[in-house]
Amino acid sequence: MQTPNHIEVRPLLPTDAVDLRELRLEALRLDGRSFASSYDAEEKLTAADWERKCTEKNDLCTLGLFSKGELIGMSMVYPWEEDATGETAVLGQSYIKPSYRGFGLGKSLFARRLEWCRKSPQFMSAVLFIRDGNAASTALHAAAGAEYTEPKLMDWADGKKAVGHWYKIELKRPEIEAAPTYRRYALH
Ligand SMILES: CC(C)(COP(=O)(O)OP(=O)(O)OC[C@H]1O[C@@H](n2cnc3c(N)ncnc32)[C@H](O)[C@@H]1OP(=O)(O)O)[C@@H](O)C(=O)NCCC(=O)NCCS
Repeated sequence: MQTPNHIEVRPLLPTDAVDLRELRLEALRLDGRSFASSYDAEEKLTAADWERKCTEKNDLCTLGLFSKGELIGMSMVYPWEEDATGETAVLGQSYIKPSYRGFGLGKSLFARRLEWCRKSPQFMSAVLFIRDGNAASTALHAAAGAEYTEPKLMDWADGKKAVGHWYKIELKRPEIEAAPTYRRYALH
């Protein structure tokens, strides 16, 4: 495929709910090994559930990556249930359609998501996890200054148990910036 153009990133809106459902279920079907969820569980979510995921709040945002108006990628920020203070975000559910990978769009999406978190009045830090062996995601997040915390044995969408590597990012430390060089694309 040629270098993608007309690329835009923006928080999804309730009117994007149907497209988000389609993309997320594609992610769980094609890349089940990357996500700690299950196709069967998410397939049962209601229209209202998908609309909630597309409603930006202080502690929730689903960023959509669009090519010529088509939703081709996604990434979510939501509260980490293990932190009762509500000050820790989970950075999760990143997915880019296979034919759009390898062009730096994952990095651009990550940079935009970090920017959103830094502006959030709610979150002081963020956590993320990556399944053992996911080289693209590991390269992407390590380069962004994510600090390794621990391995955990986890259940994954492909029905297997495998180690997930957990990372943490202190959001209010300006020296850990998503490098401007991530902006290989002029995202609008
Ligand atoms: C992870 C994902 C979002 C990355 O998106 P992308 O647009 O392909 O990523 P980029 O082009 O920005 O590349 C990011 C880094 O990963 C590296 N990379 C990309 N594909 C790679 C691969 N298959 N193997 C090893 N490294 C890879 C790139 O070289 C780049 O690092 P560099 O700048 O040091 O060279 C995408 O691969 C994807 O959707 N994967 C399936 C779902 C998934 O794994 N989600 C993450 C769950 S934690």
